[in-house]
Amino acid sequence: MPTIVTLPGDGIGPEIMKPALELLRTISEDFSFEEHAFGGAAIDLYGVALTDETLAACKQADAVLLAAVGGPQWDTTDPDAPRPEQGLLGLRKGLGLFANLRPVRPVPALYDASPLKRERIEGTDLLVVRELTGGIYFGEKTRTARSASDLCEYSVDEVDRIARVAFDAARTRRKKVASVDKANVLETSRQWREVVHIVHKAKYNDIALTDVLVDNCAMQLIARPSEFDVIVTENLFGDILSDEAAMLTGSIGMLPSASLGEGRAGSGSPGLFEPVHGSAPDIAGTGVANPLAMFLSVALMLRNGLGWESEAAAVESAVDRALDAGLRTRDLGGAATTAEATRAVLDEL
Ligand code: IPM
Ligand code: MG
Repeated sequence: MPTIVTLPGDGIGPEIMKPALELLRTISEDFSFEEHAFGGAAIDLYGVALTDETLAACKQADAVLLAAVGGPQWDTTDPDAPRPEQGLLGLRKGLGLFANLRPVRPVPALYDASPLKRERIEGTDLLVVRELTGGIYFGEKTRTARSASDLCEYSVDEVDRIARVAFDAARTRRKKVASVDKANVLETSRQWREVVHIVHKAKYNDIALTDVLVDNCAMQLIARPSEFDVIVTENLFGDILSDEAAMLTGSIGMLPSASLGEGRAGSGSPGLFEPVHGSAPDIAGTGVANPLAMFLSVALMLRNGLGWESEAAAVESAVDRALDAGLRTRDLGGAATTAEATRAVLDEL
């Protein structure tokens, strides 16, 4: 009986977690769910975004399912005030989730929902592999009245292990990796590039590797998105590029993500599965949030977290078929509510 820790979080989070649990209960009656307050909700209750108890529960779980965190009521520039995002960063670090996988595959039924012309996005099927526990996100931070700094640091081992994740993923796909850096300016990027090439040469000669500067990559993602297969990059670049890539699908409300560590076997950590979109405070409580990215995150959890491939594929194809049949939530230019979207997918399942 798999134990899933659920973290509904803030904003639309609870509204999309509820249908996700409905979906999971439809797939199996054998899940055991354990819900914890997280993000802003945990700040309101306990004064911190991630409590020790929640982190300990996540470590014990078979997988962690997260909806969304954050909201204007917790926005602050005070370095000493708690912020919902600290929960997310603490969880990534605490569980050692160094590899963030963000697949971007526009569904043909939604080609016309993308701001890009259909010809541009046709055939796009890419995977962003974002390093998630290093770089400027976690480097030393300083602040005085007159200046502030954030250190960007990467060890060779950190680059080595994320490069392997990217090459392994490419092997199951179209065997192409674009390694994205800023080697014309940054020392961390120059070492990143060297390490990626060493790993490539040692074990992955069957994969076509290219180096792409991050500014150029931002442009190519719009100009020729279908050329990309796997994009591997450091934490901050991956954050930015994955939001950009999300728009290829027509809405950021469509994108799931998986954050993985060394794996559950042995002493490894469980994976964390969450939509790429945020807590959308502007529509929270109105019942119109798009639950599809959450459903697709459930699919990633079934596949990467629990090894339930056929159940994962069933969820993905139910989402595809519901869209083919005309399901459109508001972010996709339609009028379907969260409840209607949920019904449509469950009916297909
Ligand atoms: C993401 C988010 C987070 C990040 C925020 C909420 C801290 O933007 O998962 O992409 O920057 O990693
Ligand atoms: Mg982001």
